[in-house]
Amino acid sequence: MQRITAAKRALAAQAHRTFSQSAASLREPELPKMPAFDYTPPPYSGPPAAEILAKRKEFLSPSLFHFYKKPINIVDGKKQYLFDEEGRRYLDAFGGIATVCCGHCHPDVVSAVVKQMNRIQHSTVLYLNHAIADFAEALASKMPGDLKVVFFTNSGTEANELALMMARLYTGCQDIISIRNGYHGNAAGTMGATAQSIWKFNVVQSGVHHTLNPDPYRGVFGSDGEKYAKDVQDLINFGTSGHVAGFISEAIQGVGGIIELAPGYLPAAYSTIKKAGGLCIADEVQSGFARTGSFWGFESHGVVPDIVTMAKGIGNGIPLGAVVTTPEIAEVLTRRSYFNTFGGNPVCTAAGLAVLNVIEKEKLQENAHVVGSYLKERLLSLKDKYELVGDVRGRGLMLGLELVTDRKLKTPAKTEIVHVMEQMKDMGVLVGKGGYYGNVFRITPPLCFTKEDADFLVDAMGYTLSKM
Ligand SMILES: Cc1ncc(COP(=O)(O)O)c(C=O)c1O
Repeated sequence: MQRITAAKRALAAQAHRTFSQSAASLREPELPKMPAFDYTPPPYSGPPAAEILAKRKEFLSPSLFHFYKKPINIVDGKKQYLFDEEGRRYLDAFGGIATVCCGHCHPDVVSAVVKQMNRIQHSTVLYLNHAIADFAEALASKMPGDLKVVFFTNSGTEANELALMMARLYTGCQDIISIRNGYHGNAAGTMGATAQSIWKFNVVQSGVHHTLNPDPYRGVFGSDGEKYAKDVQDLINFGTSGHVAGFISEAIQGVGGIIELAPGYLPAAYSTIKKAGGLCIADEVQSGFARTGSFWGFESHGVVPDIVTMAKGIGNGIPLGAVVTTPEIAEVLTRRSYFNTFGGNPVCTAAGLAVLNVIEKEKLQENAHVVGSYLKERLLSLKDKYELVGDVRGRGLMLGLELVTDRKLKTPAKTEIVHVMEQMKDMGVLVGKGGYYGNVFRITPPLCFTKEDADFLVDAMGYTLSKM
């Protein structure tokens, strides 16, 4: 059962009254109702949101930011739902930024972690333990071709740092090509590959060239992937010695606003890079682990990378990342000592193995495809109805909806998106937001999302859009 405070009820009623005034003569559409869910979280006895916020302001980095005017204090999670301090339930359509794939607190993942914690939490890879080896074997079995060697890290940034370094070591070249508007992390090397000024600090970031974004919505060549790929050759011709270390790309840009790469782009770009002696790195941090309806995002582009990096969904929220490559490329790390204290620790890798098993057992890849396709269709119906919706895109349960105030000029609807997001939160739906202009809804829920959840999300968004 849901516990809603009197204040929250009053707020909802007030919002309802305001909406009613603008449609006085029409029959007021009913407020969308969240699907039923048979779970009540235990009572929360911790500090309230205001106290936590004050503590954050005093003791945590001023760089921390939060969604919503009045940030919510999330204290419980179950499957595709989150609960705040008052026990109010929210439909989680952001999944902790495309991270929670099996659903919150999946019992199999929890039990794998607890079981491992009770035996040994940390020893070091200098001793043997089966958890790291078992998970590496299982992960390698999900990979095509000769991609069979796994390195574990603690985050996506670390995985990409390692991948970039390996490409440089393997080829003996320094130059990396990444795509504009991409996000690959925020450490020394990866910040160079990240290509959005909002995520780049003014520090030295050398050796990366940023190629045209093959963005079918805003890009100069529309959906002609091969035309964009010519810019990769141009960068090699005019910005490098003619040889490069590699190319890094997401299959669908996540932070960049769920941008699907124009069809035909990746095969053409990969071929150009290979001719210049470089390695192709697939950053699967967001698109991996069944999110897009394929197990890996690159599969739908018909390419096989030389190095694959992953994090987020790999652990359903446990800090874990990985780099998978071929035995030949992996060999470069034997030239010096390479070590990572926590990478591949028994607890995280036990969780990773449990995640893989849950994805398989609960057919989450199929669910991402089926429910994601249904949700996309329903989101497209909002585009037919509301001028504010400029574009709907993505695959599986990695979807984006871009708001613009002028469809022709594609003017980012920066203020409007914040309003819609607030209203949706008040109705019990949490969605993400991103893109260079901050005007794209990012919909990346846990992969156990249902069609009823999809209906609720779209109805809540439609309800708000109808009142604007
Ligand atoms: C595609 C992609 N690569 C890399 C990263 C960096 O991962 P992390 O935040 O775990 O360091 C992110 C994070 O959002 C990402 O979306």
